[in-house]
Amino acid sequence: MAQYTINVNGTSQTVEVDADTPLLWVLRDNLNLVGTKYGCGIAQCGACTVHVDGVATRSCATPISKVEGKITTIEGLSENGTHPVQKAWKQVDVPQCGYCQTGQIMTAVALLNENKNPSDDEIKNAMHGNLCRCGTYLRIREAVKTASKL
Ligand code: FES
Ligand code: FES
Repeated sequence: MAQYTINVNGTSQTVEVDADTPLLWVLRDNLNLVGTKYGCGIAQCGACTVHVDGVATRSCATPISKVEGKITTIEGLSENGTHPVQKAWKQVDVPQCGYCQTGQIMTAVALLNENKNPSDDEIKNAMHGNLCRCGTYLRIREAVKTASKL
């Protein structure tokens, strides 16, 4: 075990964990930020996506000892779900079971921060690693477009 200090949602946090502990477990178990979900654990589904310095990152495959930069989780996007992407998600009523949606939203926010008006293909490319077992892909695309106008 060792101590690691990380910046999460604008706050400095120190945790004592093993060096190979995935960031996902630090967020969920040590910091109680349970909005970020565990899906596959092998960087294949996108459910655990957070931002590290604004870049969409798979927290299940990022050991705490390798974290460099400021982390943003779904809890850090806005206080009351008022980020434009969250608003668009509600407007379009995207989620079905909801499990994958944190990762979907975090990936969409990273895309829109880079590209304010993505085409269908650009949305498809950016979102293709985020799986949804409920098949909400068409609504996700519509919501990204809606968010780009908010
Ligand atoms: S849980 Fe991290 S990509 Fe699936
Ligand atoms: S909404 Fe159910 S897995 Fe995506």
